[in-house]
Amino acid sequence: MNFDKIIDRSGTNALKLEFRERLFGTNEVIPLWVADMDFKAPQQVVEAIRKRAAHPMYGYTSRDEDFFQAIVDWQNKRHSWNVSREWVEFMPGVVPTLVMAVQAFTSEGDKVVIQPPVYPPFFDVVKDHGRIIEENPLIDTEYGYRMDFEHLEKITTSDDVKIMILCHPHNPVGRVWNREELTRLGSICQKNNVLIVSDEIHADLVYGDQSHIPLASISSELADNSITCMAPSKTFNIAGLNTSYVIVPNEKIRKSLQKKLKAYHLFTGNMFGAEALKAAYKEGETWLEALLKYIKGNIEYVMDFFEQNMPEVRVHKPEATYLMWLDFSAWKMSDAQLRKFMIEKAGLGLNYGPTFGSQGQNFQRLNVASSRKVIEKAMAQLLEARNQIVK
Ligand SMILES: Cc1ncc(COP(=O)(O)O)c(C=O)c1O
Repeated sequence: MNFDKIIDRSGTNALKLEFRERLFGTNEVIPLWVADMDFKAPQQVVEAIRKRAAHPMYGYTSRDEDFFQAIVDWQNKRHSWNVSREWVEFMPGVVPTLVMAVQAFTSEGDKVVIQPPVYPPFFDVVKDHGRIIEENPLIDTEYGYRMDFEHLEKITTSDDVKIMILCHPHNPVGRVWNREELTRLGSICQKNNVLIVSDEIHADLVYGDQSHIPLASISSELADNSITCMAPSKTFNIAGLNTSYVIVPNEKIRKSLQKKLKAYHLFTGNMFGAEALKAAYKEGETWLEALLKYIKGNIEYVMDFFEQNMPEVRVHKPEATYLMWLDFSAWKMSDAQLRKFMIEKAGLGLNYGPTFGSQGQNFQRLNVASSRKVIEKAMAQLLEARNQIVK
């Protein structure tokens, strides 16, 4: 649990490193983009995978009841959500689940609501399948991002709008939607027969006084009109194991999703992912608490650094996730200039704001799930570069 230790990821085909040339045109940037962490997974997870790997049979596997029980128990202890075993279905990833939901519950030409700025694949899962995006942009206020309920109310009255993909907690703005917001959103969608697909992959990474409330845990009406997507992948840094799950109390909706999973022959899954999930959920809590403390420290360090040295940059303090959404509009650069500046002058590989929607203009997303030394170096490089352009 030494998060200060810098782990050499070379030789692991890590996307975060290997895609630098493709994305930034150079390998000479500190990679602080894609949402995985530069930390080792919990030792219990490593041991579980090692144990399974020691048995030289790697044929098709299923998941035992222990897998599902670990999920039920995790939801209960971390989110006070009483989940029934039969509501849970394995999925090979959250984004594949979003695709299956779009296909199962909409037809070509139907509309899907998303709330930009938002995780870029939310656009793809709609557009790539011949569906139409209906944007309900978040409102950027001095108190943080808010949902635009009046606009949501208006757009969801159209019969073409069939589902809404909610990001909760929200990547990249870091909001943990509260009970009041979720309830209001839920009643608008319910009234207008819009199914809510709630992507809660960042649910375990919440800081401070906030706590994550699963949308479906709020009421039986919301449980009946939603699909919750969760995974241990962000929480325990095991995204490469392609193991996630959905929680769907509504039997009819669950069966439709299960049909898609079967149709794509994606139900066998990854045997190491199943072992990792069990170990993480059963034995990983102490590690997680230490991780949250460390990342919170990184977030506070970055907040202070900007405040002391670059107060013109607007930083939304994330209530959750290890992603920070930075507004550089005070620098008066075009997005292309800002991007070039980050790569060539500051030596940083961050996420380019406009990929999160047009609301991301002048923004960059910074991943702070790295050793503090790496974050300090990144901030120092940014400041040095900035001092050459800003008086
Ligand atoms: C909101 C959100 N959903 C889904 C994913 C990816 O999920 P998966 O790797 O299970 O497809 C990410 C990864 O960054 C994310 O931020």
